[in-house]
Amino acid sequence: MDRFIIEGGKPLRGKVEIEGVKNAILPMMCAALMAKEGVTVLKNVPYLHDIRVLEKLIAEFGGETRFDPDSRTITIDASNVHNGIAPYELVKQMRASFLLSGALLGRFGEFRISMPGGCAIGARPVNFHLMGFRRMGATVAETEGLLSAKAPRLSGAVLCLDYPSHTGTENLMMAAALAEGQTIIENAACEPEIMDFGNFLNAMGAKITGHGTSTIFIEGVKTLRAVAYTPIPDRIVAGTFMCAAAITGGEIELEGIEVSHVRIAMEKLHDMGAELVSLPNGNIRIKGPERLSAVDIITMPHPGFPTDLQPPFMACLAVADGVSLIRETVFENRFIHAAELNRMGACIRVASEKAVVVGVPQLVGAPVMVSDLRAGAALVLAGLAAKDTTVLDRVYHIDRGYEHLEVKLASLGARIARRSDRDE
Ligand code: EPU
Repeated sequence: MDRFIIEGGKPLRGKVEIEGVKNAILPMMCAALMAKEGVTVLKNVPYLHDIRVLEKLIAEFGGETRFDPDSRTITIDASNVHNGIAPYELVKQMRASFLLSGALLGRFGEFRISMPGGCAIGARPVNFHLMGFRRMGATVAETEGLLSAKAPRLSGAVLCLDYPSHTGTENLMMAAALAEGQTIIENAACEPEIMDFGNFLNAMGAKITGHGTSTIFIEGVKTLRAVAYTPIPDRIVAGTFMCAAAITGGEIELEGIEVSHVRIAMEKLHDMGAELVSLPNGNIRIKGPERLSAVDIITMPHPGFPTDLQPPFMACLAVADGVSLIRETVFENRFIHAAELNRMGACIRVASEKAVVVGVPQLVGAPVMVSDLRAGAALVLAGLAAKDTTVLDRVYHIDRGYEHLEVKLASLGARIARRSDRDE
């Protein structure tokens, strides 16, 4: 198992390039299985742990994938894909494996996937996905840890989601793309990744409009084709680097970023005292203040404040001047990092979906344990700002969503290194 060793207290300086977004690349890799011929090419891909897990799953179904580190592209050849079972050993590593269900249902009229369990941040059921498949004519069964569905003929339907589920919307878009007739998804997720995913499906030949809004219209088509596509930059990675500049009182430039996707994070950081400038070349420069100021945050589906940035912002607010209130409305258990931040001298009280953060002047390094991807990002940020040494255990969670995070931070001047059990 790998650890990060961080000597804090160094303001970050320099430029960092933002990679393509994992949470759109994963559904795109799944959707690529719906192209019966040709090779799908995705560009600007970070070779993350989650992407490797999905490659293994695609191989289980007879698909061929190849990542080229020089061009940062991943190719997916689905011509020999057959229907099979997505095994629990892989599904349990990554809940996004369930994105295969919409693609397989679209292509084969059936799927069999091990039931994705809950994870550290919440129970995360898939009932909205299944409700949609049922409405489109599928018979869904849940037996002995396996979810299966069969639909000899998938028909368009009006689907009203109880909550704008991100992967739920993506799964239903895939199934509807190859269904007969029109599907309307109401209360759909509006995240930029959904917009990008809809654009990708349309490039494959789908007929989708309204994606990026809460009502999506999908006219089913007979076939989809393989395409080459460049996904949008990762707004959560961008927000994490902005927080890294803010918490260390540094100054960094973010390259390859889409400003409209990170506006809410920029506004919060501005309110916290950071200086942000949009440069003519599309980059953003951010400069952290001497000391950040407290702000309140409430997480919500897009265009609200993203839950995935709540942990990094909590790390920043832990050292801000004043008292901040954070309300987490998306996941029921996404404050695990608060206890670890408190081990570093933070003063955070959590009561159900609320956290009160009383800013302290300085955090102090300590051994801490990463529980999930974004909690890991929060603890790295805390370590960068803390006095003395922070040792982060279980960094494999961070590798799921940040490519070579320690290398990128070190290039900005951070004193951070990866140590593995193998080194000792
Ligand atoms: N929910 C249900 N039933 C469902 C689906 C969702 O009750 O059928 C609930 C969830 O339990 C949760 C809420 O609805 O309380 C929102 O969940 P959503 O379905 O939107 O989340 P997701 O699709 O499982 C994606 C991202 C997450 C991100 C959330 C929210 C991917 C692969 N994952 O998860 O990303 O936090 O949307 O924006 O796209 C991360 O990158 O660290 C991460 C966790």
